[in-house]
Amino acid sequence: MNEISVIEDNRLASPDMGHDMARIDQIICKEIDDLTAENNQIWTSPDHNRREYVHSFFQYPAMMVPVVQKRLIEIITTNKPDVRTVFDPFMGSGTSLVACMERKLDCYGQDINPLAVLVAKARTGPFYFDAIQRKKARLFKYLANDNSSRIEANFRGLNKWFEKNVIIELSRIVRAIRRERTISIRRFYWVILAETVRLTSNDRTSTFKLHIRSKKDIKLRKLSAIEFFKRHFESCLEDIRSYAELLKRSGNLSKGNYTGDVIISLGDSKDHVKLARESKRCFDLLVTSPPYGDNKTTVTYGQHCYLPLQWIDLTDIDEKATPEFLSTTSEIDTRGLGGKIRKFTNDELQMLFDASPTLAIIHAELERVDSQKLKKVVSFFWDIQQSIRNIHKNLKLNSYQIWTIGNRTVAGMEIPNNLILGEFIQYQGSLLVKRITRDILSRRMATRNSSATLMTYEDILIFRKVQE
Ligand SMILES: C[S@@+](CC[C@H](N)C(=O)[O-])C[C@H]1O[C@@H](n2cnc3c(N)ncnc32)[C@H](O)[C@@H]1O
Repeated sequence: MNEISVIEDNRLASPDMGHDMARIDQIICKEIDDLTAENNQIWTSPDHNRREYVHSFFQYPAMMVPVVQKRLIEIITTNKPDVRTVFDPFMGSGTSLVACMERKLDCYGQDINPLAVLVAKARTGPFYFDAIQRKKARLFKYLANDNSSRIEANFRGLNKWFEKNVIIELSRIVRAIRRERTISIRRFYWVILAETVRLTSNDRTSTFKLHIRSKKDIKLRKLSAIEFFKRHFESCLEDIRSYAELLKRSGNLSKGNYTGDVIISLGDSKDHVKLARESKRCFDLLVTSPPYGDNKTTVTYGQHCYLPLQWIDLTDIDEKATPEFLSTTSEIDTRGLGGKIRKFTNDELQMLFDASPTLAIIHAELERVDSQKLKKVVSFFWDIQQSIRNIHKNLKLNSYQIWTIGNRTVAGMEIPNNLILGEFIQYQGSLLVKRITRDILSRRMATRNSSATLMTYEDILIFRKVQE
């Protein structure tokens, strides 16, 4: 079931160009093979430095490893130097974008989760390190002098998820952040607050799903949100300093600003790629890791971000970040791929099976085992297939695509996302150039007794668009 074939390139637009591109494909494969031969752990990178590439601002679920993406981006852009624009339609915390900025690419990212948008905006700058360093003393003094007990968050469950002293301290941080006039600096502060909320709430940190700690545990914890915020502030400041230096060394930073474009937006990649349509750009490169299944049964990105978002001024994130995103704890997850379950007509199912013969096999097997779960699985594949179609329209001919894809199990059956998504992508007119398999050493599950667990490896599939 795990065999994925590298198909023959027989659909090229122009034979000459096809010949050149086939040669570039071969060079890319060889460079990847050489690196693998030198070090067979290179695509796993278990010892990667989590502080590099401003990776530790906020612990977003299922983050890619920046250094792994960076190596692949380097190989592709060195061998195809006309690559200027990159797109990540499932951007999460923006790892692909920060890796691409080192190569001075114009970066476009999109995600359905407002907190992902905030983290990605903060990670991609501007990097006003000196200004933040100067403002720090005033910010901390304001925190020390604020004796008010006014509460700055208002939602159902506030007193369940936070202790009284934590609520008061988080409110003081919110007031201090609001005093800052520069929006990019405020965003940097909001992300630090988000991580503070994550670690000072009564939610367990062992799962991404909201899950209250035991009463005993809550009683035993002695937390100061302000102290945590200050500590994390220092470490994030150091991280932006070192990332800004890296950009400066590569000649891509001027007065704290990245010299290329970065456009990040809150959007549903299944419905549209708004950025591309507005700017009429087609992308030269895609670097992404899509979800492995519907958010509710795989990784609950939305639930993980629900509490932090309750403390952040949504208007500072994106004009489309409305309070409706927080109407329930599962609203963001419902908006993600496969979040809304529906029935499909036979014609619709046939359309999916035409695009992925493997899905037809999985569908037949799962129908026998668990028809309820089957509905969820099909809804997810329908949505991701729509997204892939939509994304392809916005890619240039001969653009490369780096897809990091993980499988999962449903009702004890492995769902081979690598094969199914690979077939969807090829169906849209792309050619599989290379497959790299990497171990995932520590992947957290959606729930302890989850019916949908994730695997211990994932694939990085490199495609090239060969057909309009
Ligand atoms: C595997 S994560 C990406 C993680 C990212 N590579 C990183 O390093 O942080 C997948 C992302 O897809 C997003 N997502 C799910 N459905 C989406 C949709 N319909 N449109 C855009 N993004 C979506 C989730 O919110 C999540 O952030």
